[in-house]
Amino acid sequence: MNWERRVQLAAHPVLYPLVRGAGRIGPVVRIPGVGVLVSDAALAKEVLTDPHRFTKTGPGSSADLWTPVVGPTVLLNMEGDVHTTLRRKLSGLFTTRSVAELCARVAEEPMKRLRDDLAAGRPVDLVTVVRHLVGAVICELVGLDPTEAVRAHAAGAAITSMVRLGRPTLTPEQVRRSRAALARLTRPAATAYAAGDPATVPGRMRELGLTEQEALGAVAAFVLTGTETLVSYVPRLVALLHDAGWLDRVAADRSRVDDVVAEALRVTVPSPVMLRSVTTGTSVGKVRVRAGDRVVIATISAAKGRHPFDPDRPHSPAVRQVWFGAGAHFCLGMPLANAEIRAVLNAVLDSAPLSIVDRKAARRVLLPGYERLVLRRA
Ligand code: HEM
Repeated sequence: MNWERRVQLAAHPVLYPLVRGAGRIGPVVRIPGVGVLVSDAALAKEVLTDPHRFTKTGPGSSADLWTPVVGPTVLLNMEGDVHTTLRRKLSGLFTTRSVAELCARVAEEPMKRLRDDLAAGRPVDLVTVVRHLVGAVICELVGLDPTEAVRAHAAGAAITSMVRLGRPTLTPEQVRRSRAALARLTRPAATAYAAGDPATVPGRMRELGLTEQEALGAVAAFVLTGTETLVSYVPRLVALLHDAGWLDRVAADRSRVDDVVAEALRVTVPSPVMLRSVTTGTSVGKVRVRAGDRVVIATISAAKGRHPFDPDRPHSPAVRQVWFGAGAHFCLGMPLANAEIRAVLNAVLDSAPLSIVDRKAARRVLLPGYERLVLRRA
């Protein structure tokens, strides 16, 4: 069995075969207790770009999961004009230029250490390296001290580990534990809000007239969206390149970096599902849905199809970027994710030839990934 499949099965031993199996039955399949599963990329984009029929705020949607933990105004649980307005106001923090500067500043020292360790022949666990980096980047973005990096990542992981697809809401005890995990981060973020520095999310939100509670909710949302996805993806990208014999090839020809990054996103799909709630009687493909039905976009099937990792095969327009969503909620952090991915990948490629000397898939986690992936100079 290839390692990608092992990683998926270690995370979701029952759900992964169920979701992939449903995709083989048809592009849209109703699964009792889960929802209406959409496995086709064009239909997925149709749902994602029609907020009038499919919303993120109704029953069974992301809002049901996150609002009790992070409050009502954190983009991923908003729709309509209020969502567009807040998103536009925050977008300045995520321009290609500002994230490139932010990432270069934060990544310089840890990436130098990664290169030095690999050059000296020391084994390096890439999962630990990525955890630290993404935690530090989010800390910088939301105005937390970099020493909070590990805690920032741990808070995100603690919360996402409680989410189960078959359970549309968190239990009251899980909400309490999630809030406690986040409070350790949001308390320092309150200082950034008070300081009002517009280079940080809380400061920018204060400038925009948002309340402290709303600004702290955004901090929580960025911790949730911006850490685990990359810890899931970056080690799997490097493992795929290694296993498919592409690591040395890209190291020698950096013009292929964009192709391998996109193809590894298609194969891994770090955010494997997206949730929507139906607002009115309608259909998805040939399946009728009612108001209140839960639509589960199986991005993992929509993107992955049956094709193995092959950076030489172009992506169809329907599939392109679907791993970052579509429509009004398209990943706001994509430029930041791209900058972080390239920071680590370049450091790894600079250190080639490399071997994976030890690895273990993480068990029972929301976003599939490696628990450890140890590299050493070959
Ligand atoms: C490889 C890494 C990443 C992947 C695959 C990814 C994927 C996604 C997807 C699929 C969505 C849309 C969800 C939906 O429509 O239901 C999304 C939204 C979002 N992402 Fe990312 N993401 C990544 C990294 C990041 C990073 C680093 C950040 C930085 C903070 C971030 C911030 C956000 C935010 C704030 C939203 C909500 C946008 C809105 O609702 O308007 N993401 N992401």
